[in-house]
Amino acid sequence: MADTTVTSTSPSSPTIHGFFETQTSTWQYLVVDPTTSIAAIIDPVLDFDRETQTVSTTTADALLAFIASNNYTISHILETHIHADHLTAASYLQTRLTQTQTESSRPPICAGKRIEQVQTLFATRYSIPTVEHQTAFDKLFDDDETFRIGNLEAVAIHLPGHTPDHLGYHIGDNIFCGDSVFHPDIGTARCDFPGGSAESLYHSGKRLLAMDPETKIWVGHDYPPAERGEEVPYMTVREHREHNKHLREGVEKDEFVRLRRERDQKLGEPRLLHPSLQINVRGGRMPAPASATLREGVEGEQPSTSTSTSPNSWNHYPIQPNPLPI
Ligand SMILES: [Fe+2]
Repeated sequence: MADTTVTSTSPSSPTIHGFFETQTSTWQYLVVDPTTSIAAIIDPVLDFDRETQTVSTTTADALLAFIASNNYTISHILETHIHADHLTAASYLQTRLTQTQTESSRPPICAGKRIEQVQTLFATRYSIPTVEHQTAFDKLFDDDETFRIGNLEAVAIHLPGHTPDHLGYHIGDNIFCGDSVFHPDIGTARCDFPGGSAESLYHSGKRLLAMDPETKIWVGHDYPPAERGEEVPYMTVREHREHNKHLREGVEKDEFVRLRRERDQKLGEPRLLHPSLQINVRGGRMPAPASATLREGVEGEQPSTSTSTSPNSWNHYPIQPNPLPI
């Protein structure tokens, strides 16, 4: 059961299902072409137990059950960026869907073209072998590249600031903005990760707020303040222009950058930072057993492919503790 659904009102507008994952406060989305039941998944979550350092697939399996019960066919798995606060279920879902879908069987895992910079940076810091991340994403979008989800047109929009690779996906009157802006009563996402930039986020935010006022901005996370009480997946451009506490009309760039930097200096490290980055630069694949050996200096050894394709490998697989602090 989806936590929220906005039903299509015309052949060119998608039906959108939102699923809120409470452990990491992440909104996951299914965007469905109403004419073909072909759909895209955006930013799916893999469960992670910090105590035992293990992953499980309860959230992703619920998404798969929902997809199956609605007879949807998944054409794309879309990532907005390399997340630092949750693990992606992209690879797990791709494997499962490839086993179960009869048409267009293997949905590509897609991200922005600059994701390679982020992969390279964190692969170095975590000693991740190149072979484990270089093919993690099947499709890297150029800026403003268009693609189709069934008969729907989608556009990949570069929204740097939180991370340099960050994309939004513009589909009908909707923009899935990942971690760029958050709801008006929260403001914007942090910019203090490597390659992040408050100046860039200001321009990305203003680009979003220049869209049609009725465009829905679907966020990657929600942390509702007490006054609001419950999570919601979207608010409109009009609401952001009037009320976004960091980016509403009248806020100049210098003011935003100062405010964003001050705020970021007070923020702690994300709870799941190290496991998230290690898995997400791999597109959600688990580390191969050979990685441990490679970390000890045996270069060039090919990891076993069985761990990256067997569904069992996602269950209770130990994540390596962070070998190099970032
Ligand atoms: Fe993020």
